[in-house]
Amino acid sequence: MYRDASPTPLDPALVDAVRSARNVVVFTGAGMSAESGVPTFRDAQTGLWERFSPEQLASPDGWEHDRGLVWAWYQWRTGLVRRVQPNAGHRALAAWARDTELTILTQNVDDLHERAGSTVAAHLHGSLLAPRCSTCAAPFPSDGGLDVEPSGPIPPPTCPVCGGDVRPGAVWFGEALPSEAWDRADRAAAACDLMLVVGTSAVVYPAAALPLRALDSGATVVEINPQSTDLSAAVQYSWRTTAAVGLPALVDAVQRR
Ligand code: APR
Repeated sequence: MYRDASPTPLDPALVDAVRSARNVVVFTGAGMSAESGVPTFRDAQTGLWERFSPEQLASPDGWEHDRGLVWAWYQWRTGLVRRVQPNAGHRALAAWARDTELTILTQNVDDLHERAGSTVAAHLHGSLLAPRCSTCAAPFPSDGGLDVEPSGPIPPPTCPVCGGDVRPGAVWFGEALPSEAWDRADRAAAACDLMLVVGTSAVVYPAAALPLRALDSGATVVEINPQSTDLSAAVQYSWRTTAAVGLPALVDAVQRR
């Protein structure tokens, strides 16, 4: 059932499908925030993983090996996210939700959906803004991160409750997703009649299973991504455009009568 709407024109059949949907889920990944200036993880030239190894920076082993390096890196990302703004894609989703039942599920650890005015039903990979103690899990206030890229490790703060090291609030490779967020996301994916999948390479599980869950449940799945992904061949519509260009155009077309 693969229908490629490439290169960029908006397929009228896609607009009709979105317009007739009653229960829409939007599932976002790093590409959603790329045009705000937050680098994605796996893009060839700008991906953060080109400069750092994920094992060093986003895994329990990396944390045990060098807590200061991991803390410094997340502080840098927190500062970067604080300095950027939601893009036209984030804003289009927030505007659309004013007259449509929309559930946003994100893998992103930034708060750009919220700053655009959206409610996010599930932050599947945690949040940069929610550090917690690595020993007792007590929440620790985010200080907004760094203004400049650190030149070396920064010791993590000490938990005022138990004296343990405070860790970033992101979910690392090999860790379980927050169970409530996962349950909400899984239920939403199974119940929707249309899912927009925006800016994810769809390779990191279990989150990447959500579009498949929606397909299995009979939903129409629409991918918005400038590049093809493992998901492209499985979905009904794969639109080669970016989040900040495609989403405003789609929402505008859907709302036009
Ligand atoms: N608009 C839409 N999509 C874009 C844009 C854009 N402007 N720019 C890039 N993309 C697409 C890329 O083509 C790619 O498919 O966004 C995707 C980004 O993929 P990844 O970097 O792999 O990000 P993501 O899928 O969110 O990664 C999943 O992996 O490292 C972990 O926890 C991290 O949440 C992250 C997870």
